[in-house]
Amino acid sequence: MAFWFFLLLAIVSLSKVHAQLPTTDGFVSIDCGISSNTNYTDENTNIPYVSDDGFIDTGTDHTIASNYADSSLEKQLQTLRSFPNGSRNCYALTVTPEQKYLVRASFMYGSYDGLNGASPSNPLLFDLHLGVNFWTTVNITKASDVHRAEVIFVAAADSASVCLAKTGSATPFISALELRPLKNTIYSYANATQNMVLLLRINLAPTTNNLLRYPFDRYDRIWLPLVDQVGWTSISTNLTVNNYAKDQFEAPSAVMQTAAVPVNSSTLQFYWDFVGSGFPDNEFYANLHFSELLPNTSRAFDVYLSGEKWYANYTPPYLMSDAIYSTAPLTPSLRYNWALNSSGLSTLPPILNALEVYTPMFFKNTPTDSDDVDAIINVRVQYQVKRNWMGDPCSPKEYAWDGLKCSYDLNSPRITDTKMFCRNLSASALTGPISSSFAKLTAIKYLDLSYNNLTGSVPDVLGNLPSLQVLNLAGNNLTGPIPASLLKRSQQGLLILRFEGNQNLCASGNSCETKTDTESKKKKIATPIIVIICLVPVVLFLVAIFIFCRRRKSKGSANISVQAEKERLSNLVKGHQDNPLQLDNRQFTYTEVLRITNNFERTLGKGGFGTVYHGYLEDGTQVAVKTRSESSSQGTKEFLAEVQHLIRIHHRNLVSMVGYCMEGDHLALVYEYMSQGTLLDYIRGYELCISFVFSWGKHLQIAIEAAQGLEYLHKGCKPPLIHRDVKTANILLSEQLEAKIADFGLSKAIQNDVTNVSTAVVGTPGYLDPEYYISCQLSEKSDVYSFGVILLELITAEPPILIGRQNAHIVQRVHDRLANGNIEDVVDSKLQGEYDVNSMWKVADIAFRCTSQASHQRPTMTDVVAELKESLALECPRDTTNNSNFYAEANEASQNTTIEIERFVEFSPSAR
Ligand SMILES: *[C@@H]1O[C@H](CO)[C@@H](O)[C@H](O)[C@H]1NC(C)=O
Ligand SMILES: *[C@@H]1O[C@H](CO)[C@@H](O)[C@H](O)[C@H]1NC(C)=O
Ligand SMILES: *[C@@H]1O[C@H](CO)[C@@H](O)[C@H](O)[C@H]1NC(C)=O
Ligand SMILES: *[C@@H]1O[C@H](CO)[C@@H](O)[C@H](O)[C@H]1NC(C)=O
Ligand SMILES: *[C@@H]1O[C@H](CO)[C@@H](O)[C@H](O)[C@H]1NC(C)=O
Ligand SMILES: *[C@@H]1O[C@H](CO)[C@@H](O)[C@H](O)[C@H]1NC(C)=O
Ligand SMILES: *[C@@H]1O[C@H](CO)[C@@H](O)[C@H](O)[C@H]1NC(C)=O
Ligand SMILES: *[C@@H]1O[C@H](CO)[C@@H](O)[C@H](O)[C@H]1NC(C)=O
Repeated sequence: MAFWFFLLLAIVSLSKVHAQLPTTDGFVSIDCGISSNTNYTDENTNIPYVSDDGFIDTGTDHTIASNYADSSLEKQLQTLRSFPNGSRNCYALTVTPEQKYLVRASFMYGSYDGLNGASPSNPLLFDLHLGVNFWTTVNITKASDVHRAEVIFVAAADSASVCLAKTGSATPFISALELRPLKNTIYSYANATQNMVLLLRINLAPTTNNLLRYPFDRYDRIWLPLVDQVGWTSISTNLTVNNYAKDQFEAPSAVMQTAAVPVNSSTLQFYWDFVGSGFPDNEFYANLHFSELLPNTSRAFDVYLSGEKWYANYTPPYLMSDAIYSTAPLTPSLRYNWALNSSGLSTLPPILNALEVYTPMFFKNTPTDSDDVDAIINVRVQYQVKRNWMGDPCSPKEYAWDGLKCSYDLNSPRITDTKMFCRNLSASALTGPISSSFAKLTAIKYLDLSYNNLTGSVPDVLGNLPSLQVLNLAGNNLTGPIPASLLKRSQQGLLILRFEGNQNLCASGNSCETKTDTESKKKKIATPIIVIICLVPVVLFLVAIFIFCRRRKSKGSANISVQAEKERLSNLVKGHQDNPLQLDNRQFTYTEVLRITNNFERTLGKGGFGTVYHGYLEDGTQVAVKTRSESSSQGTKEFLAEVQHLIRIHHRNLVSMVGYCMEGDHLALVYEYMSQGTLLDYIRGYELCISFVFSWGKHLQIAIEAAQGLEYLHKGCKPPLIHRDVKTANILLSEQLEAKIADFGLSKAIQNDVTNVSTAVVGTPGYLDPEYYISCQLSEKSDVYSFGVILLELITAEPPILIGRQNAHIVQRVHDRLANGNIEDVVDSKLQGEYDVNSMWKVADIAFRCTSQASHQRPTMTDVVAELKESLALECPRDTTNNSNFYAEANEASQNTTIEIERFVEFSPSAR
């Protein structure tokens, strides 16, 4: 007579308690779905149960349908918590590290949602994870079935998470969750590197059809009864079956007091199948529990597995609990066929008191670095984050916390990006001070706390984060100085630091007395424009050049007074208002500017001469408003220059002016709003609350558009205009990621009759043409140089200058790394290898020619545009769906250029 073990899921009632009770110390018993903050002691087991608040924040409470809520049904199964939202929801259990535990999750669907949603043809399927690793699949095919999942594990940390993971359309749910500490010596095959998942735990031939658990089993293991099998009968005793001192399993007496024996044969057989076990790996460990219940017998038998003798001539000890068990996985088999055959001189048939089968749980995923976990949990607790932040932050990869990015290159995953704090993505604002725990996320590269409601000062310790590349504090209510360490790194180009919109935050090292003071200092930090920088380490030489340049400059237009400039400009503007082509440009009053910006409510950033605010025109069009209300002469001059240039030029790839305001000291320039920010943000794969999908085709399209903007300045404008501050921070992206050149504050018009203009050296470190720097002779080729640097940034996503590297400048770095002929070594990994290699090489080649030391070796922007289009054509066939569009747009844009040139109205500022 054979029997098998898979039809055991029907509800069975509990044996009633009568004995004196062992301790429940250390038990955690959660009845999911009961009212918040309630508790009760179970009538049958005497175990105290609590509600699940305090263990989980998410999910909704439910009660099973009344037709399934039989009075004999365990109370824990009558309610449940379901998780319609989030791909993974986790219970957090507090545990003692290195302690062995049993954890059990119970599930009864009971049509709680009224949908009768479980059937054999349409089962409810979802996964359970213990910590970062797969535990089991819950497969519910009947509303009345009770499904239990159990695992024996050794705690690695002070918290263990039990997670329900969505795998299909089914909404995960759970009825009860129970944690039981075990003696560390039992179940020795469950250890720190191997958890054991329960397949079967059977009490054979009990006298009643009740399941046995606590208090009969001090560890509250659940022993399912198997009764009334054909061909065998039960023997039992009322005497206690004892455990040995060093018992491996401590099977309870109540289970061992009954055993199955064959009626009429000398063989006891049973089997289970791997297929249908619900486990993915065919690895099993079995425990066969025996105790002789009859006095003065001579029982002996051999144990066979799949026809092979597994254990010879075994005699169970009288009233002692014993076991034959695997110490290594059983030989894999589709059907595990067991036979106990009487051996030798045995006068009695074989017996079996109980059976357990386990399968190992594999550690396929590594938990996140424990310091990172502690830090991020502190952050979660401090800000009371109630989002889907449960279980391990980074692992498994597909269930990492929302908005968080991790690197998986090292032994354990590390948190590298906390974009999740960005306000647009988070349900509620973070309030209070900046947590010092952020400074313990030592692998973090991007820390975005923008647009929350953070107060207090910026902690110094943030300056110690070794990998920090972006720190975005914009739009908070922070106060005090920004730590010098952060400012220094920002100035060195190692850190993108954003802090606009914090009224009382100042960038000066120590004092923050007056607002005006703060503003002007901030400006210097936010726009690292320099007048002279040291690329040549000969200081005296530099000073000489500086003096030389200043002299030549002072002969030029530098001494024109601000007032004169303004008058000139207002004449100019009047002239232009008669011009039908410039009707777009509107003059605004200061009151209108206040209304447009809602009293300068939202700061977008800092430009060359002042703050840039967000605003709305009457028709709802979004605009950016650059202001200059304080009459600092330098800023005013830049402002006037920008107005002049923008009034006379108009091109699809140049940021266009919507209007301006000149009223007393109030100067404001209203221009189109570029919602996607700067190319700098885009290249670093980082933009406030927005993540981009990168493609090389898109990069090229942006490069072509920016190049066309510059080409127009050089060739379409009369006289030609040299931008002088071409950098990724001055290329803005529209909603559709169309690139436009911005910030003409430093631009210089070149007189028609002069090819080279001499002037003070201005620009941004890393982008500055070395020839211009040395000669002070300005030409269009200086912009070409800067554009070459931008192309290298697009290829590598690296900043132009990396202080502390052997080759600090990007041209040298890329050059050196390309020496072995491998373009992959330099390309931005975010492109994930998705690009045409020839296209990439071509762009690298253009970039190197643009950055030639000698300006006459550099191509013109017209050449650059043409060659970039060829590169795009090489990239195109790779992905026709997207990139052919780019090409079409690029062509259209170049047609535009010609149109714009024809429309251009000649104007020369020096003529007036
Ligand atoms: C159970 O609830 C009572 C109040 O209803 C409370 O005093 C007690 O501490 C709770 N017990 C547990 C274990 O939470
Ligand atoms: C699930 O999300 C929806 C909308 O996203 C929300 O209205 C609902 O309250 C959420 N439910 C739970 C249980 O969190
Ligand atoms: C779920 O259980 C049913 C019935 O036991 C079985 O037919 C089906 O294959 C199982 N599904 C999965 C995915 O394990
Ligand atoms: C855990 O048990 C397995 C199987 O018995 C064994 O291979 C492994 O070495 C054990 N690990 C430890 C840490 O003892
Ligand atoms: C055990 O005790 C019950 C009564 O308490 C008795 O009916 C039964 O026969 C006893 N069983 C054995 C095997 O002695
Ligand atoms: C047991 O075996 C005897 C003789 O071999 C037979 O008469 C009897 O029917 C068998 N009983 C059962 C339950 O198989
Ligand atoms: C920001 O925090 C302050 C004080 O904690 C509070 O008064 C204010 O309402 C908060 N603002 C927002 C937008 O949450
Ligand atoms: C910023 O904080 C100050 C007090 O510290 C408060 O008066 C002000 O309303 C806050 N601003 C915002 C936008 O929450």
